[in-house]
Amino acid sequence: MDKKGRILTGHRPTGPRHIGHLVGTLETWAAIQDKFECYFLVADLHVLTTDYDHPKRIHANILDVLADWIAAGIDPKRSSIVLQSAIPEHAQLSLLLGMLVTVSRLTRVPTYKEQVKELKLQPSMGFLTYPVLQAADILIYKADVVPIGEDQLPHLEVTREIARRFNQLYGQAFSEPEPLLSHTPRLPGTDNRTMHTSCGNTIFLKDTPEETTRKVMNMYTDPTRIHHTDPGHVEGNPVFTYHDVFNPDIEEVVELKNLYRAGKIGDVEVKRRLSVVLNDYLDPVRQQRADLCAHPDDLRDIIRSGTMRARPIAQSTISEVYKKMGLGTIV
Ligand code: TRP
Repeated sequence: MDKKGRILTGHRPTGPRHIGHLVGTLETWAAIQDKFECYFLVADLHVLTTDYDHPKRIHANILDVLADWIAAGIDPKRSSIVLQSAIPEHAQLSLLLGMLVTVSRLTRVPTYKEQVKELKLQPSMGFLTYPVLQAADILIYKADVVPIGEDQLPHLEVTREIARRFNQLYGQAFSEPEPLLSHTPRLPGTDNRTMHTSCGNTIFLKDTPEETTRKVMNMYTDPTRIHHTDPGHVEGNPVFTYHDVFNPDIEEVVELKNLYRAGKIGDVEVKRRLSVVLNDYLDPVRQQRADLCAHPDDLRDIIRSGTMRARPIAQSTISEVYKKMGLGTIV
């Protein structure tokens, strides 16, 4: 089939994927595989920008991410799954592109500013240049489209600026990649705060049905409701947000909302229904995940072959960049 262009996107392998990744990101990625030539990057170098002192953890996390991605519909036959650290050209291009952006520009990137406030540590140089490495990831494949969440838009802006600067200085090499934003609203955490692995408010794809049910039964609901006969609030109540996303029976959701607003149904009942629909939704993903994890060697083969497909493209971009920047010409 004729494809419309090339896609590069990725995740940092920080741990197993959760339902927020599934509905916000992975389902979007899975759906575009026939339209675009896709490269999905396991950005293990980027993990080191904040978490460089746990070398043993990375390996397990990569296998978890791989299993989750494939179980969620990333198809290694149609797309390439690529390991960033196995292609040294990513780091090489990052070094070169780092010459084309100022330190002050990078200190103004919102993710940098926020994290520096949170971390309470002196940020490393690698952390400051996170967006430069991301620009290298994207530009090394000359990607046309980059599916990302809104939080990543500032990084894509840096990428576009660097591409423009490179073209001005050395002649046209890169087009400016376009973002592809997911239209699914962000799923709140089970405690109604932003869903985040480190906040303990997520449901993982690898969670068992029992764990999933337990997490659903402990979910935050309407704090103003003391008795189940009190009229309840549906808006901003994550139990209903999840019903909207995961419950295929729209009529049932409307009815549950009406009963809840009228104080005619308890939280326990609404949550019990949610745990059933959520487990139904996740069951096929879990099944596939379990099959994949039973054969870790196959997972390694998948990422190895995706990486082998990607490497020649990265090498060809590096030769072009070297030539244009006047490098390596003497030897
Ligand atoms: N920064 C991205 C994130 O945290 C991960 C990432 C690394 C990425 N390189 C990329 C995303 C290139 C898109 C394109 O989610």
